[in-house]
Amino acid sequence: MVSSSSSLTIASSHSFFSNDRSLPSLNPIAPSLALPAIRSSALAVTSRSKGRRCLIRRMSVSKGDGSETAPSDMIFGPILEDGVFRFDCSVEHRKAAFPSVSFKNSKDREVPIPSHIVPAFTPTYSLLEEQQVVTFQFSPGTSFYGTGEVGGQLERTGKRVFTWNTDAWGYGPGTTSLYQSHPWVLVVLPTGETLGVLADTTRKCEIDLRKEGVIRIISPPSYPIITFGPFSTPTAVLQSLSHAVGTVFMPPKWALGYHQCRWSYMSGKRVAEIAQTFRDKKIPSDVIWMDIDYMDGFRCFTFDKERFPDPSALAKHLHNNGFKAIWMLDPGIKQEEGFDVYDSGSKNNVWVKGADGEPFIGEVWPGPCVFPDYTNSKARSWWANLVKDFISNGVDGIWNDMNEPAVFKVVTKTMPENNIHRGDDELGGVQYHSHYHNVYGMLMARSTYEGMELADKNKRPFVLTRAGFIGSQRYAATWTGDNLSTWEHLHMSISMVLQLGLSGQPLSGPDIGGFAGNATPRLFGRWMGVGAMFPFCRGHSEAGTDDHEPWSFGEECEEVCRAALKRRYQLLPHFYTLFYIAHTTGAPVATPIFFADPKDSRLRTIENAFLLGSLLIHASTLSNQGSHELQPILPRGTWLRFDFEDSHPDLPTLYLQG
Ligand code: GLC
Repeated sequence: MVSSSSSLTIASSHSFFSNDRSLPSLNPIAPSLALPAIRSSALAVTSRSKGRRCLIRRMSVSKGDGSETAPSDMIFGPILEDGVFRFDCSVEHRKAAFPSVSFKNSKDREVPIPSHIVPAFTPTYSLLEEQQVVTFQFSPGTSFYGTGEVGGQLERTGKRVFTWNTDAWGYGPGTTSLYQSHPWVLVVLPTGETLGVLADTTRKCEIDLRKEGVIRIISPPSYPIITFGPFSTPTAVLQSLSHAVGTVFMPPKWALGYHQCRWSYMSGKRVAEIAQTFRDKKIPSDVIWMDIDYMDGFRCFTFDKERFPDPSALAKHLHNNGFKAIWMLDPGIKQEEGFDVYDSGSKNNVWVKGADGEPFIGEVWPGPCVFPDYTNSKARSWWANLVKDFISNGVDGIWNDMNEPAVFKVVTKTMPENNIHRGDDELGGVQYHSHYHNVYGMLMARSTYEGMELADKNKRPFVLTRAGFIGSQRYAATWTGDNLSTWEHLHMSISMVLQLGLSGQPLSGPDIGGFAGNATPRLFGRWMGVGAMFPFCRGHSEAGTDDHEPWSFGEECEEVCRAALKRRYQLLPHFYTLFYIAHTTGAPVATPIFFADPKDSRLRTIENAFLLGSLLIHASTLSNQGSHELQPILPRGTWLRFDFEDSHPDLPTLYLQG
């Protein structure tokens, strides 16, 4: 097995970085690539691109089931900036790779840079039942993080996930595919140095971390691997990643306040009551959310005439009381002649097609629906213009839900993999749904964001998306989907927020209190206590559950919630600054506490504490103990406990770094 740069050999002249971007497998739709015979060669090249010299190398790799080692044609070269490398299985595989959707500028993945640094870690390749298998081997004591939105433990050794955006109501710690896909692993070496590994594919991708120190990535050919680092800190790796996939959009300041949601506040009158109760009870809050029932029969871009007769007047009323209003838009458009959105989409030919070439029909909330093909720029701009008009009702932000896309009454919970998308050439051209499934939600969020920009270029858009892909943070915040009102989910919500942050998405939070089921006062207060310290802070609960507003659980819990949210508002300048730094540099906002000392192995598995810059939050997720009863493990150095003279067993303890 070749796993270190010492095995690299030098010679030959292969134009790895030619500017020939023709992608042979785009047309007809995604044929499975005939893999070239692996030739024995010992090559490395100096090729030219834009007149600059850059080092391109070939090396031997393993083949077959992994037991047999055979020479092959793996090639690599530096891209983007010093310390970032692209690896491909062979020249032919490189040519056949699809354009990057994760990269902000997909050309950055194709253009070489001059660099004399050699990679410290190189993968081995093998082919297994027409899958491209990539393996990295690290020494024992290496810790793994990332892989996006995943339940269960923070440190990922022993886990396996499959990137495949899935409507995962009631998921648990072992669910292997949630709503988002981040084929990305953050590798913290025993020394504290950190490396990032990106499998730049939109296709279903298995990321297998079950063996200590081993990353095994399995996905259909052809996709490149990009490595970032190793750099001296995990923050440096995330900053480098952001140079590829972009940073988080700069959220408007109000979006960092507390958001109150439920499925659903059933009328404009009820919405106004909720807003007033926050003010009467002096519980800080900035945003009220409108879930699907504001619509007329779940038709997107409409309002129920009886329950929400005058959305503009409602918005005005909320604005006068210092609230913003966020409204839901799902991708499923009711298939109904005479419904103007359906008619105009049909006229503009924007729907995803079935294998028969006719618009695909799948059932969601309104019954039979068609789905905009956001992979196509014409469809995106059609949607963006609808969003622009919708904003004129006083809409401050948009919630994109069900965009995996979720489809009811089918076992796969989504549309058929052989549906057809007429994607832009830059995104990969005409392809089956299997190719675009994982980026459908991100492209919907992009189109929604662009619609908000069209409406008012001087206002920062705010979009929340359920489905996403690595790079989605450019357009939208996210939440951790349909969780449960349980202590296990409270505990998991900390790691999930951190893990998304370690995967390029710093603006996330759970449904505080849990979506499905009923919280108890203790659980709700605890969850608000820690939730008030998450980057995105929203309470939400499912239809049919008891009320879950901060005052719904009795006086003591109300007091805990008030104190928790007052903390958030006292820290709001700090949150806002952290987001400015995240937006401008790619640094994460909430991080595991090992960020304070990546060498300290004691800190790498801590799941009930996190950092917001120099602020450490230590929470209890145990029903029978408050955070003050737990002995925290703190990073070395000076950490002093403080509070806002509000300490309560259900609030987390706070420390400030000296
Ligand atoms: C989905 C969302 C949830 C929302 C519900 C109704 O389950 O995840 O947040 O309340 O749909 O729109």
